[in-house]
Amino acid sequence: MTQPYKQNFFNFDESKKNNYIHTNDIIDLINLIDKNNYIESIDIILNKYQMIKENEYFEKISVRKQHGIYYTNFKLAYKITQEALSTNTGNIVDLKFFEPCAGLGIFVITYLEYIYKNYTLNNTQLEKILSNIYISDIDGSALFLAKCLISKYLKIKFNINYIIQDSNIYIGNVLHSDNNIHTTKSLFNINFKFDIILTNPPYKNLKASSKELTQVEYEKYQNYCKFTSKLIRKELQLQQGTINLYKVFIELIFEKFSTDSANIGVIIPSSLLSDYTSVQLRKHILNNSKINDIYLLSESTNEFNSISQAMCYFGAKKNNASNRIKIIDDNTLNSSYQINLNDMNEIDSNYSLVKLTDNANYILETIHKFPKIQSIESIYNLRGELDLTLDKKYITEKKTKYPLLQGKHIREWGITNDTKYVEESFITDKPTSKKDFINDDRLICQQISNMSTNKRLKFAKISKNHVLGNSCNFVTVNKNINLDYLLGILNSYLMDWRFQLFSSNNHINNYELNDLPINIDNKYVKEIIIYSLEIQNGNLDKIIDINKLVFKIYNLDDNHTLEILDNYNDKYANLLKESIL
Ligand SMILES: C[S@@+](CC[C@H](N)C(=O)[O-])C[C@H]1O[C@@H](n2cnc3c(N)ncnc32)[C@H](O)[C@@H]1O
Repeated sequence: MTQPYKQNFFNFDESKKNNYIHTNDIIDLINLIDKNNYIESIDIILNKYQMIKENEYFEKISVRKQHGIYYTNFKLAYKITQEALSTNTGNIVDLKFFEPCAGLGIFVITYLEYIYKNYTLNNTQLEKILSNIYISDIDGSALFLAKCLISKYLKIKFNINYIIQDSNIYIGNVLHSDNNIHTTKSLFNINFKFDIILTNPPYKNLKASSKELTQVEYEKYQNYCKFTSKLIRKELQLQQGTINLYKVFIELIFEKFSTDSANIGVIIPSSLLSDYTSVQLRKHILNNSKINDIYLLSESTNEFNSISQAMCYFGAKKNNASNRIKIIDDNTLNSSYQINLNDMNEIDSNYSLVKLTDNANYILETIHKFPKIQSIESIYNLRGELDLTLDKKYITEKKTKYPLLQGKHIREWGITNDTKYVEESFITDKPTSKKDFINDDRLICQQISNMSTNKRLKFAKISKNHVLGNSCNFVTVNKNINLDYLLGILNSYLMDWRFQLFSSNNHINNYELNDLPINIDNKYVKEIIIYSLEIQNGNLDKIIDINKLVFKIYNLDDNHTLEILDNYNDKYANLLKESIL
């Protein structure tokens, strides 16, 4: 049996002379802070300590990377604090505050700054507030410095001498003790949860990398990751895909550490807003807490040193559901409204929070009056049946009844033939209901299509007996829907626009195709079939006519059509635009 790796795997060697000298440097800087320069000075200190972690190595990886360290600057932390506290209704003096991965304690300081600016308190009240502040982090030296920094801030701003008590500080892995996910009781031996939680958690996949560790440590860490992932999946319900620490922290904060009506402020990777593997967490947060505004920071933001990841921040009030969320570019402060979340399921079952203009919202509402592929019983939408790795033994150069098609053979409206075939035994060895579709004509598209491609949905019709590799998706129908008609719809700019609006990676997933709305029955079906057949026979000019009809049957006017076509710059999109203008 593999032994769980001890939680102090990444604890620091405090006796390291190097580290000691650096810590003293930081203390010197803390001593220099005064009332006139504290914001700039704190930012300098955060940067300097982050540099120390950048230069400190564990095996082949910097401690900064290993612990997912990116300290939040004062101004940004203050904005997040404001976002979170603006909906607070409780008496500030009684509220319990927690920063679970505090680093140098910037969120404690901005919490106190917020209180300084918004409340008038006597010393007894202030001391009550201070005694309600709890912090934790895996980095003991950071917490030591956080204590010093917070005390210095209190001295210059509130003119009191106060040090956060050791009973309010937890040094160690906040996710779990050896065999249990942490609770507030196991962290601090208290019987309550927190009313306010503010943080910027670490972002790191729980996955060992041989590039970062030597062989011995790699194996140890791999065991640790397996053990921890299993524990997390057993005790936390909302984790999907590879475990990433930030998602675990978010679930712990919302589900284990906070009260039912808590105010929470976080800054996290914006993948939470649209990733397929964050759907459960996203839905849970949106359905159980009220978020009014979400601010986006682009990959090129200079809010953080050494980080190039798109981020977002927001304040959430628990015990309420989100309704209409404003998505705001932090850089420009341009906002755009997200669709009413009550209608969300009708549009995107993934609950993706993407920026939508008013026009985009209107188009979505209009086209989603038609049923989605997933709700139309007579349409099947699946991944190719032959696994190119696992079923390799069935692939042959010898001609058989079954030509093989892979994603690379698919063009829009047609295919290029391959010289490979599939043995008959593939069909007879283990017959499955999916393999039955080999006897049908089908529409196919690639499973992978680069996000930078102008038009990404490219379907072609294939005749029966083609076997499809898993680099293809296929769509097929029962008798009552015409396949050439469906091909015309799926290859339209409208469907591509709808698909791209919510796509967040290079895959074309069946669950994304399932969300496309299909107008099955209208007076233009015959015309669309004729155009579709003409295009398949090489008369590409008909792409213009077919697209015009598709916009028409989805009830979109010229303005909305042009708004969609603005995203395309190929020959046919340009001709279409000209024909409308
Ligand atoms: C992105 S930094 C942010 C620090 C601080 N919240 C801020 O905003 O400046 C993440 C912090 O999480 C801490 N950390 C990483 N893994 C942790 C764990 N398993 N338990 C507790 N803290 C952890 C790091 O030491 C680091 O201080």
